[in-house]
Amino acid sequence: MTEPLLEVSDVAKQFGGIRAVDGASFDVERGSITALIGPNGAGKTTLFNIVTGFERGDRGTIVLDGERIDRRPPHTIARRRMVRTFQITKALSAMPVIDNMALAAPDQPGEHLTGLLLRAPVARRREKEVRERAHELLEVFGLSDKAEEYAGTLSGGQRKLLELARALMVEPRLVLLDEPMAGVNPSLGRRLLDHMHELCERDGVTFLFIEHDMDVVMAHSDKVVVMAQGATIASGPPAQVRSDQAVIDAYLGAQVKA
Ligand SMILES: Nc1ncnc2c1ncn2[C@@H]1O[C@H](COP(=O)(O)OP(=O)(O)OP(=O)(O)O)[C@@H](O)[C@H]1O
Ligand SMILES: [Mg+2]
Repeated sequence: MTEPLLEVSDVAKQFGGIRAVDGASFDVERGSITALIGPNGAGKTTLFNIVTGFERGDRGTIVLDGERIDRRPPHTIARRRMVRTFQITKALSAMPVIDNMALAAPDQPGEHLTGLLLRAPVARRREKEVRERAHELLEVFGLSDKAEEYAGTLSGGQRKLLELARALMVEPRLVLLDEPMAGVNPSLGRRLLDHMHELCERDGVTFLFIEHDMDVVMAHSDKVVVMAQGATIASGPPAQVRSDQAVIDAYLGAQVKA
């Protein structure tokens, strides 16, 4: 068997007296779609923050493609083509949608003025490519007619889609999505899921997504990892996890009652 793309081992993070993450361990296989589930406050977002370097864990190791990344700052991790989206979106409101997209692309020619002057034709070609890619992605997510609007005018659901589209500008190999479907209308949500499968199957992109809707989790993941009170309590194929008694007690039972 090939080694997993991402290996998280015994990660923990305490905020004051709160053990937000307390012994989280799981693997994400290459070219697969893994769902991370668990009750509110289980530590899912905090775990994402640690994996992507936005927070530093108190202990544990994170290995991406055979290399330890748990002591690296976020920008060096992004260079490894691991990207994430946020539960609360972070698009720049006072900037047109298309510019939000272009800014997310690596090697922005505008970043290096000398390079821009010396290599103007190359830079212009690159900028054209970036714009084309941005328009393609906006089309996929049904945002083409919003390209010139300020991102601040988008609905909550459209902002989530913009955030995913932005993440895809870097042609990632690992994408972490924090509740990508929340607040997205059902038809755009389906489009988002279809696109996730397409990227996974066609380009081998690996996904790890946090989701509360169990129907979505069951239908769209190869593997489910369950968190409760900071710890990973189960992982495996969706059908197996659904019938796991510890999972029913910690999460699914509570969901049915709710
Ligand atoms: N920066 C912080 N400072 C203090 N406590 C925090 C911080 N971030 C998270 N927490 C706490 O850590 C715990 C885990 O929070 P986290 O946001 O990771 O949960 P979650 O599983 O993503 O929940 P949800 O499903 O509601 O998004 C919660 O008790 C939360 O209040
Ligand atoms: Mg969360």
